Amino acid sequence: MTYRRPRVISVTNQKGGVGKTTTTINLGVALALQGKSVGIIDLDPQGNASTALGLESQERLKTTYDLLVGDSDLFSIFVKVGVEGLVLAPATVDLSSADLILSKKSDQVTVLKDKINSIDFGQNKLDYILIDCPPSLNLLTINALVASDSVLVPLQAEFLPLEGLSQLMLSVKEIRDTANPGLRFEGIVLTMFDKRNNLSRQVEDDVRDNLKGLVYQSVIPRSVKLSEAPSYGKSIFDYSPRSKGASAYKALALEILARHDVN
Ligand SMILES: Nc1ncnc2c1ncn2[C@@H]1O[C@H](COP(=O)(O)OP(=O)(O)OP(=O)(O)O)[C@@H](O)[C@H]1O
Ligand SMILES: [Mg+2]
Repeated sequence: MTYRRPRVISVTNQKGGVGKTTTTINLGVALALQGKSVGIIDLDPQGNASTALGLESQERLKTTYDLLVGDSDLFSIFVKVGVEGLVLAPATVDLSSADLILSKKSDQVTVLKDKINSIDFGQNKLDYILIDCPPSLNLLTINALVASDSVLVPLQAEFLPLEGLSQLMLSVKEIRDTANPGLRFEGIVLTMFDKRNNLSRQVEDDVRDNLKGLVYQSVIPRSVKLSEAPSYGKSIFDYSPRSKGASAYKALALEILARHDVN
């Protein structure tokens, strides 16, 4: 059986509320709907990705805490969430203590990478792993970046979005210089875009001028449906499959797949 490691993509931005979780789960479902097998790792103690995929707290028996701090392996944590081809490694608030526990270990930045690398992907096929990161550059996020092939950054179309990005770029460079030389930028996706708003359009021009080909053509619109879906425990494809938000996340998935097919 041939061993093929999945592409591991961290969805990250240390700024809170920019659309990381919304992007992780809807992109994950969109990729699964395109026939890919996808694992989502919820690496945020808020557990928003787990909630948004309909997994109640009491159903989260084994979590990413057990993965990072205990001796559970990734596939023993993955659960099905009602979307064919998609599995989820859930998180609970317990994960908030993992940072301190990890900081006392000698392998503190490579735990997640080692867990992913120890899987036989010949037996357990996965095309993609998407990691939903917390809104900070703590050890959880560093573990995600060290374990990843690439970083996908949701950027909210608002005033001065590039300011926070330079901090993230520095962190990625630092990880590249030390623990993960192969770490690339997957791309930057503008989120919560309001095309009637001049500021949104100015931000888009500015971001495209500065970051050129890194920025996806697909832009995620501000949409009430996207913000409502998580409270029903559904992705946008279940909640409102014909909405603008669903089309936008499908377009993003196709753009990502097209880039990967030529590489
Ligand atoms: N395109 C959108 N249109 C409207 N609302 C959105 C959109 N994307 C996300 N939201 C809403 O904005 C809020 C923040 O989004 P989300 O939770 O995805 O961000 P986050 O970066 O993961 O936040 P955190 O940093 O707390 O983890 C949520 O209430 C979400 O439902
Ligand atoms: Mg989040």
